[in-house]
Amino acid sequence: MSLRLGVNIDHVATIRNARGGAHPDPVRAAWLVKEAGGDGITLHLREDRRHIVDEDLARLAADPPLPLNLEMALTDEMVAIALRHRPHAVCIVPEKREERTTESGLDVIGLGNRLAPQVRRLADAGIRVSLFVDADERQLAASAAAGAAVVELHTGTYAEHEPGSAAFGRELARLERGAATALALGLECHAGHGLTYGNVGPVAAMPEVVELNIGHFLIGEAVFRGFVPAIRHMRDLMDQARA
Ligand code: PXP
Repeated sequence: MSLRLGVNIDHVATIRNARGGAHPDPVRAAWLVKEAGGDGITLHLREDRRHIVDEDLARLAADPPLPLNLEMALTDEMVAIALRHRPHAVCIVPEKREERTTESGLDVIGLGNRLAPQVRRLADAGIRVSLFVDADERQLAASAAAGAAVVELHTGTYAEHEPGSAAFGRELARLERGAATALALGLECHAGHGLTYGNVGPVAAMPEVVELNIGHFLIGEAVFRGFVPAIRHMRDLMDQARA
C-alpha cells in the first residue's frame, strides 16, 4: 500500500502569530503542500489557539486544497467545531495547556466510556476518526473498542533517540509491534511526531503504516531550502524507504 504524507502547517501560524498580522499565511502553505506532492493538510486547533486559529480552519474548510486532518482535544467545543466544518478527518489528541507540543498518546483506557459516543457523532457526520496513541497493545485494543477507524502511533519517543542507538532500535521495535497490532485489530495505522529526514526511513518502511503526519521539522527545514523542496525531499525519502 502506498504511503501518504500529511503536512502539519501549525508552525506556519506560529511564525505568523509571533508578529501578529497575516504573514506567513497557513492557507498559502496548504496550497504549496499540494504543489509539493503532499497528500493532506494537518492542523491542530488548540484550546489556547496558540498557532492555528478558528479563521484558518474556516478558510481551509471552505476551499481545501487537499483533505484536511483536524487534530483536536476531546472537548464539546472541539467536537462542535469539527461537526460545523466537517474536515475529511479528525485526530483526537490529548492536550495540556502547559505542554509545548503533544507529549504523549491519548489515554484511551482512562477516557472510559466518554470516548465512544463522540467518535460515533463524528463518524456519523462522515468524518474519519483517528486516535493519537502510544504503541501500546492495551491502548490500541481500547481504540478499536471505542469505534475509531484509525490510530496514529506517537513516534515522539522514537524520535528522541539517536538513529542507530540501542534505544532507537527498542523504540522502533515497539512501533513495529504496535503497527502489527493495529492492523490485526482492523485499524488503519498512521504515525507521526518528531519525524525528520534522519529518522523517517524506518517508520516509512513499515508496511502497515499508510500515512505519516509531519510538521515542525518541515517548517524549520523550509527556512533553509524552501517549503516546497523541503516537502519534496521528505516525500522522496518516504518513497525510497517504502521501496
Ligand atoms: N501527529 C500529531 C497527532 C501531532 O499532534 C503532531 C504535532 O502537532 C504531529 C503529528 C506532527 O508532529 P511534528 O510537528 O513533530 O512533526
